[in-house]
Amino acid sequence: MALDLTPEQKAIGAKNFAQAAADLERDRQAKSPNDPTRRTFMKVAAAAGAVVPVSAAVYFGYEQWKGNKPVKVALIGCGDEGNILVGDHNPAFTKIVAVCDVRPYNMERIFAGEAAPSPRKGLNKVYGEAEAKTIAKYDTVEALLADKDKLGIEGVILATPLITHRPMTIQCLEAGLHVLCEKLMARTIADCKAMIAKAKEKGLLLSIGHQRHYSMLYAHALEVVNSGLIGDIKHIRALWHRNNSWDMKYSDKEKEAFDAAYDLPTIRDGWYPPIRKQDSAKLPQAELDKLQFVPIAALDARNKYAPKPGSKPEPYYTDIKELVRWRISDRTGGGLMAELGSHQLDAASIFLGKVKPISVVGTGVKSFYGPGKNPRDCEDGVFCTYEFPGPTYATNKQDVVVVTYSSVSTNGFEDYGECLMGSRGTMIVEKEANVYLFKEKDPGKKTDAGGKDTAITVTVSKDGKPAAEASSTWGGGGGAAISKGPGGPAWDSDIRGYRSEMEHFAYCIRAWDKRPVSYEFEVGADGKKKWKHADILPRCHGEIAMADAILALTANLAIKHWLRIDFNPNWFDPDKHAAGDHPEDLFEGKKA
Ligand SMILES: NC(=O)c1ccc[n+]([C@@H]2O[C@H](COP(=O)([O-])OP(=O)(O)OC[C@H]3O[C@@H](n4cnc5c(N)ncnc54)[C@H](O)[C@@H]3O)[C@@H](O)[C@H]2O)c1
Repeated sequence: MALDLTPEQKAIGAKNFAQAAADLERDRQAKSPNDPTRRTFMKVAAAAGAVVPVSAAVYFGYEQWKGNKPVKVALIGCGDEGNILVGDHNPAFTKIVAVCDVRPYNMERIFAGEAAPSPRKGLNKVYGEAEAKTIAKYDTVEALLADKDKLGIEGVILATPLITHRPMTIQCLEAGLHVLCEKLMARTIADCKAMIAKAKEKGLLLSIGHQRHYSMLYAHALEVVNSGLIGDIKHIRALWHRNNSWDMKYSDKEKEAFDAAYDLPTIRDGWYPPIRKQDSAKLPQAELDKLQFVPIAALDARNKYAPKPGSKPEPYYTDIKELVRWRISDRTGGGLMAELGSHQLDAASIFLGKVKPISVVGTGVKSFYGPGKNPRDCEDGVFCTYEFPGPTYATNKQDVVVVTYSSVSTNGFEDYGECLMGSRGTMIVEKEANVYLFKEKDPGKKTDAGGKDTAITVTVSKDGKPAAEASSTWGGGGGAAISKGPGGPAWDSDIRGYRSEMEHFAYCIRAWDKRPVSYEFEVGADGKKKWKHADILPRCHGEIAMADAILALTANLAIKHWLRIDFNPNWFDPDKHAAGDHPEDLFEGKKA
């Protein structure tokens, strides 16, 4: 992402970020040392005025967890992401008592895990083999739910393909269980609204796994952005590029494990894995056909997001290839925008204050994969441009922030990240792991300070707002090591956000046990609408996550139908029935 930065410039950018975050915090603590309502985001250590980041539990406000019993959860979906969540969960908060997966291979893998340094540690390692043996195993959600009381299950963590999210979430909420469902929230906006409505109806928690909401790195980056240090942000460039164009070669051992009847991949591509014999032997078509869900209409006659009366169940997957390669089918996975773009549009909109977008246009191509080359029906390249409202948009319609997103499958040079371009500085978030901060060159200064080679400190400008000051030598008290620097830990739970996301889910459940909670709004002292129980709602609950789903799904529609789509504010309101899932829905708001 940090396209043309030298290692030295990266080191300066990383230090600038840490320094700025620390200076801002020091200033904040000096101004209001005894403000109990303000969470301290850095601790000023005794020695030399240095600062260190506090723990995620302190930062996200769930440090008072101590003394609670762990929440008993079931993990549904034991594939790649299920394994990440197992490796990063904290059994003191969420104790996994059951796992559910239809694929025999993944059921074994979730226990065995992968060798270090992989973050996929496996249940045997996390719990110890003896205790892991007590974890119950199921191959269908129905069988798992039938035993929920026997096992004392209170919540589920759902890490299954996108097509299953709405039906399985609703199944689990109906069974009285809190749900943490992986992103993207659902396959359609109507599905998202149905999930939110069910969680409200049942008085249960619904959290969605956009982990950046729980990343200390992003939280610190947001503090810097909100301080105004990088000025007026007019453009965010986000991207996630990979190169999957290399030929696939198989060892004899691999060939033995794979079922060649299901066309072995010709190209290295994580979205097109080979089918394992172990799975194909135990999952004949008749078994797969039993995995069913009932689609819901965008809106039924009763104005509810529910299946139309008489709707028939249909299988989740047409065959085993679609079960294993669900990401390449638009129907089951939603393509690049759902899988990758949604993460970074989530990040961009966090930085812009979660304002609702104005419009999107996009181009998508199927220019690389095709017959004989891991064929698929979703795009292998997407390029989208969004307009978001700037701070004065209400009175000046020219004040827009342009956010571009691209995902390319045949060139990995830039990797992934987000670049925020402000009128006073630039912030680059690279691979969810590093943040680089640079000051714009200042024409008012005699020296040419600023740019990629300049260290900065934070000072208070004449108007009392923080400003970046360029300095040739490294000053101040020394920044905290927030970013994951080269040679740092291979996986940092506070930075990634998965662990805090699951810890906070458990914390919210225990808080909900003690006092009645709702998703109601109230008007704050500043006149703004706020969630009444924001302190014990997941940071990415249904309504927040639905906005991310809308960003990704609407871009897909724009690509498919070659449209510029204006977002209808009613799509973002869970209580309004509008859902722009089909071309005919797109102009609904304008007609009204
Ligand atoms: N937050 C993140 O950064 C992140 C990263 C990767 C994936 N994800 C999300 O996690 C989810 C899973 O992705 P993945 O990479 O683990 O996919 P995967 O294919 O590796 O694993 C999915 C698992 O679900 C199981 N499954 C599917 N349908 C089932 C059913 N009806 N009943 C029981 N089991 C069923 C499959 O057998 C498989 O083991 C997706 O929603 C994906 O978008 C999130």
